[in-house]
Amino acid sequence: MEEFEDFTQSPKLREVRYDVRGPIAREAARLEREGHRITRLNIGNPAPFGFEAPDSIRMTMINNLATAQGYSDSQGIYSARIAVAQYYQSRGMTETDPDDIYLGNGVSELISMVLQAMLGPGDEVLIPAPDYPLWTGATTLAGGTAVHYICDEQNNWWPDPEEVESKVTDRTKALVIINPNNPTGAVYPREVLEGLVDVARRHNLILLSDEIYENITFDDAEMVNVCTLSDDVFTITFSGLSKTWRVAGFRSGWIYVSGPKHRAKNYLEGLTLLMNMRMCANVPAQHAIQAALGGHQSIEDLISPGGRLHEQRTVAHRLLSEIEGVDVHQADGALYLFPRLDPEIYPIEDDEAFVIELLRQQKILVSHGRAFNWIDDNHFRLVTLPGVEELEEAVAGIADFLQSYRDATVRA
Ligand SMILES: Cc1ncc(COP(=O)(O)O)c(C=O)c1O
Repeated sequence: MEEFEDFTQSPKLREVRYDVRGPIAREAARLEREGHRITRLNIGNPAPFGFEAPDSIRMTMINNLATAQGYSDSQGIYSARIAVAQYYQSRGMTETDPDDIYLGNGVSELISMVLQAMLGPGDEVLIPAPDYPLWTGATTLAGGTAVHYICDEQNNWWPDPEEVESKVTDRTKALVIINPNNPTGAVYPREVLEGLVDVARRHNLILLSDEIYENITFDDAEMVNVCTLSDDVFTITFSGLSKTWRVAGFRSGWIYVSGPKHRAKNYLEGLTLLMNMRMCANVPAQHAIQAALGGHQSIEDLISPGGRLHEQRTVAHRLLSEIEGVDVHQADGALYLFPRLDPEIYPIEDDEAFVIELLRQQKILVSHGRAFNWIDDNHFRLVTLPGVEELEEAVAGIADFLQSYRDATVRA
């Protein structure tokens, strides 16, 4: 019998990482198979924490099932695109047309397609560190090079446009902004965003603005859509239904292209080619978009003082801050906290091993900082989606684990 070689993955994947769903999640699944109950604070998935989609969204999908059996236009159904166009019109982008909107199976698919259509070997994309790691992984998979600019923990985790500009080379094609930010919870002020737009303007970069958390901000934080800050910078804005409308499983998102589109004709033809090759986004979920964008926005009740999301992030922040050697910025938006463990007190050498140990001892699953392309081993991310009681229990577990870590360090 002839000996064949094993089936192996493409070398394209060699440098591609997506550790938020990597070895730690596998260890959690193993522990669950052994019968342990794991508190999952690792993925920003609202539904399992009792966040239900508004009824109007579900009813619209159900009512349209019969007419949603065929493929749609690859760019998306008209009623949804006009609803998204009006959404941006109401934010001041009065010239927006349904043809500027492209629908996809969540922002994730659109990130991949936008980058695949844009990048050649060695083309560079400026991406924040820490980042939502799909941006780095999808850039690498598309043949490009992710160049990280550092967000400043000492300054509310905001990026510094000068630092961003210092990373521009003649190979830089695009600048990614994630605002509100995953994993830090930062919401960037207008001046910072204007600085970033200026960098893109001066260096002829495409702005890629991931605004999936745009409607999840707290207290006085002001959300500014980057597209509203210029009409001379080609900008692709990403958003969708997963977070604000709590239907991550429906896989429904969009991009909005704005600025000097006449200079991007060839690029948009490439993007359309990729859209055509995948036929269309899930059609029933496209129908959900129009229902989502109209009427009362129930997210408002969740993010206001007294609302679940507001309370949970406040409680989680307070309890984490009380632990010795833990520094954590309060989140102004999104669904996460990204605490720092003082390296003098917690001399962690491998943050992934650290969170696996937390998982084994306390059955609490968080994500390590390096999974977000962060530069040291002293951060982790947790989601603030569980109810207050569950969060209190989880943070108490984290506190116990950190206490035992400190005790062991003192003994050593
Ligand atoms: C910053 C950011 N962008 C995009 C996504 C993916 O969104 P979608 O469910 O629309 O694919 C997430 C999901 O957590 C995210 O945090």
